[in-house]
Amino acid sequence: MSTEAHGLIGRIERYLDAVPRARADVEAVGPFTLFRSRLTHPFYARPSLGWASGYVTAADVIALRARQRDLGLPETIEWLTEIAPDLSTACRDAGLRISEHPLLVHHDPLAVPVPAGLRIRRIDNPDDPVIPAAQIVGRLAFAAPGTDISDVGAAERDTAVEQRAPEASEDLRQLIRDGHSVLVVAEDEHGVLCSGGHNPVGDVTEVVGVGTVPSARRRGLGAAVTDTLVADAIRRGIEVIFLSADDDAVARVYERVGFGRIGTACVAVPE
Ligand SMILES: CC(C)(COP(=O)(O)OP(=O)(O)OC[C@H]1O[C@@H](n2cnc3c(N)ncnc32)[C@H](O)[C@@H]1OP(=O)(O)O)[C@@H](O)C(=O)NCCC(=O)NCCS
Repeated sequence: MSTEAHGLIGRIERYLDAVPRARADVEAVGPFTLFRSRLTHPFYARPSLGWASGYVTAADVIALRARQRDLGLPETIEWLTEIAPDLSTACRDAGLRISEHPLLVHHDPLAVPVPAGLRIRRIDNPDDPVIPAAQIVGRLAFAAPGTDISDVGAAERDTAVEQRAPEASEDLRQLIRDGHSVLVVAEDEHGVLCSGGHNPVGDVTEVVGVGTVPSARRRGLGAAVTDTLVADAIRRGIEVIFLSADDDAVARVYERVGFGRIGTACVAVPE
């Protein structure tokens, strides 16, 4: 790895420790940091910051899983391969399944057109009524991983929004209010079709949750929303803008917006 890439990975690693820390109570369990979320969605454990790929055994992972179970938390561990290359083996030996995801950093501003008939908008008002739809769109998108088109779209979004409890959006509204999250949506005249966010901490941010409802895919919405998030981050003086893509097909969408691969993000969950 080049010195520059090494420096970037270090900044991303510190960011990945800082973000859940601001939203969770923290507990050390062996070589891991366990984040006990104060929000409605749970967090995971990560190798503790500064852990220089120390020797971690399956027993360490088993002890962590037992603690997560005791607390009623999902038995999930997340890390960067470049920081903890040996952790996969210990996790597999402890009965976890590993998925690997391309880690990309933005390096090259490119011109990205806004598709005709659509508006790309940053949600500045935490009480904006569109926020539940933006969250539902993310949920529908991630329920259909990959980049394929299907019929699922506006009708499913509207039904789900009607059924959603108003308080279900309160965490996100608060994060926007506090400046911890930035939300961008792409809308047509009937509502949101694509949404995504970034979570700035100091001079680093992660682009998260970019999702397009399957019926509106392959029209440039994902690229346009990502590009708007990147432009927002640059305006804030952020120096490192990164994300992890589900797979190589999804990574291609981001490469078209000026991201390039720098590493691998891993997630371990029970078999
Ligand atoms: C990944 C995802 C956000 C992409 O959204 P999208 O709105 O379809 O993205 P885009 O339209 O910008 O790009 C998708 C493809 O359509 C192509 N495309 C864009 N505009 C087009 C147009 N006008 N005509 C034809 N093709 C077009 C792009 O070139 C790209 O092609 P590729 O798959 O061959 O690389 C979406 O598929 C999704 O929600 N997936 C599930 C959730 C997910 O994985 N999100 C990413 C989290 S890391």
